[in-house]
Amino acid sequence: MAAVDRFGFLFKEISDYFSNIRDILAFIGVLYASKKTLHYSYEVLKAVNDHVLSKLSFIGDLRRRYGSWAVITGSSEGIGKAYARELARRKVNVVLISRGENRLYKTAREIEEEFGVETCTVPVDFNLGPDVYSIIWNAIKDKEIGILVNNVGVMYDFPQQFLDVPQERLWQLINVNVAAATMMTYMVMPQMVERRKGAIVMMSSRACTQITPHMTIYAATKSFLDYFARSLQYEYKNTGVVVQSLKPFYVATRMTRYSKTLSKPSLLIPTADDYASSAIKTLGYSSRTSGYWPHTIQSWFSESIPEWLWMWGATRLNNALRRQAEERLRLKSIARELSEQSLDSESS
Ligand SMILES: NC(=O)c1ccc[n+]([C@@H]2O[C@H](COP(=O)([O-])OP(=O)(O)OC[C@H]3O[C@@H](n4cnc5c(N)ncnc54)[C@H](OP(=O)(O)O)[C@@H]3O)[C@@H](O)[C@H]2O)c1
Repeated sequence: MAAVDRFGFLFKEISDYFSNIRDILAFIGVLYASKKTLHYSYEVLKAVNDHVLSKLSFIGDLRRRYGSWAVITGSSEGIGKAYARELARRKVNVVLISRGENRLYKTAREIEEEFGVETCTVPVDFNLGPDVYSIIWNAIKDKEIGILVNNVGVMYDFPQQFLDVPQERLWQLINVNVAAATMMTYMVMPQMVERRKGAIVMMSSRACTQITPHMTIYAATKSFLDYFARSLQYEYKNTGVVVQSLKPFYVATRMTRYSKTLSKPSLLIPTADDYASSAIKTLGYSSRTSGYWPHTIQSWFSESIPEWLWMWGATRLNNALRRQAEERLRLKSIARELSEQSLDSESS
């Protein structure tokens, strides 16, 4: 009888112990579910603000809101050119900065003729270091710069491991992606703060939010821009100047031309025009956004998977893209050789 009592007592102790553990686990589960629910509710509300409310209540008068001129770096083609066109459509005069003089003048003429705004072109190479900023300053110092779009950026020729990237390209990534945005902001922001209005856009990339192997330095420069934008916004939040970090996924431009998959526009890979027309509407509504609703949905998926899985997937994708790019280069060099041979045989 005593043995049965002892067994009953032990059984009760064990089941109390497990029910305590069950309660603790249930509590942890409720906490985790609440955290996730709050996180996703916030993300959905943010997406509604960025991509629905911003479009419904967008005040197109950027000129009155921020100032009569905008400076856009890297604006002879791609996203920079498309953004400059969107600004000009809203009657903001534009300063265009890029290397290729002819392309820059052509873009400026197109914009003047189509939108009837003033333009100013500054052909410089940001890779040349500190000297270029005095040239830019001389061109813009008498203008009321309301918007600065730090768009200029370079990537590798195709995804590669760190040690395979040529040294010159590493310097280019630092001079163009990091130094240009820092020095342009340092140059333009004081008069915005003085006028108590202005907007600075940093063209970061979705590559900055999770570790993206085979694009390591490119992604790191984009993380710099994202961090710079967020911290600057906080430091100057009471000055009337807004700072925005834009984090697009792939956009079909010259930068993605190394891959035939990425250069074909689709819902997930918009053209530069589609991307810019969507992103500009978020200016003043969101300080950190993809700028394009399908990219926001893509971000939700990518952020919901563990980082190790993301890195594994990114490595496989970037390896496939590198193979595509190498194949393209191989075919191009065969075509070049064949055309040289046929020229030789014609001349002999
Ligand atoms: N495309 C994408 O999938 C993607 C995704 C996320 C973020 N982004 C970012 O978006 C920005 C624009 O990219 P994009 O795709 O539009 O690139 P893009 O088509 O290659 O255009 C780059 C622009 O920058 C200019 N530029 C390049 N190097 C320069 C230099 N050293 N000095 C002065 N100007 C220079 C180019 O003109 P010149 O060659 O005549 O100088 C061109 O106008 C970049 O910051 C990029 O990182 C792009």
